[in-house]
Amino acid sequence: MIIYRTKDYEAMSRTAAAVMAAQVIADPHSLLGLATGSTPIGLYKNLIAGCAAGDLDFSHITTVNLDEYAGLPGTHDQSYRYFMNTNLFDHVNIDKANTNVPNGQAPDPEAECARYEALLRKLGPADIQLLGMGRNGHIGFNEPGDAFIAPTHVVELTDSTIDANARFFASRDEVPKKALTMGVGAIMRAKRVLVVVSGADKAEAVKAAFAGPITPQVPASILQLHPDVVLVGDEAALAGLAEAGC
Ligand code: GLP
Repeated sequence: MIIYRTKDYEAMSRTAAAVMAAQVIADPHSLLGLATGSTPIGLYKNLIAGCAAGDLDFSHITTVNLDEYAGLPGTHDQSYRYFMNTNLFDHVNIDKANTNVPNGQAPDPEAECARYEALLRKLGPADIQLLGMGRNGHIGFNEPGDAFIAPTHVVELTDSTIDANARFFASRDEVPKKALTMGVGAIMRAKRVLVVVSGADKAEAVKAAFAGPITPQVPASILQLHPDVVLVGDEAALAGLAEAGC
């Protein structure tokens, strides 16, 4: 694992964007695995700037997103489709037909998970998979549990995740209780995994994920088994890892 420790969120965003940009430049036909959450927003801003400057070309890029809330249409301002459009896709020269997010409004969520998993298999492993991390160590919406779940699946969100994401909704009651998420299978098949973390409230999760035992109670800990992980975090988020001597 490569760890880049940065001063703050802005530096973390620039460094992580450089890792992603290197992939886009090296292979303009790349398959990018993308993530939502507040952490990657700065990274996306840097990619948008790179595209505006003419340094990055997304016209042949394909993307697959990690997850989507069940029940929200892509037009809902808290859906992850909406997030991706407004934070990246609307501002770069990507063909939206080549961007993929699970359909949260599918009448049969299980069938939608099967469709998405088949699509992931067809497109092949992501060249790079971007991940944020939940405070409880979740990746995508792979929540702590008794087992790692490999394929795309429907998940019941934990109270911790609902609490953490309530800040984006008018009230906690409006946070969807279920989501569709890529499983750890497709994440682990990615050729490279880029993890971004920022802030002191992630320090314990980062320490548990990368310096603790590999356990489904900390879903991100499975990344210890991946051969090419790049972790980019600011000092606050990496403080726990530093304590553990990493
Ligand atoms: C959500 C997303 C995750 C993301 C996490 C952390 O739960 N499903 O993919 O990593 O939030 O979000 P933030 O970056 O806002 O802390």
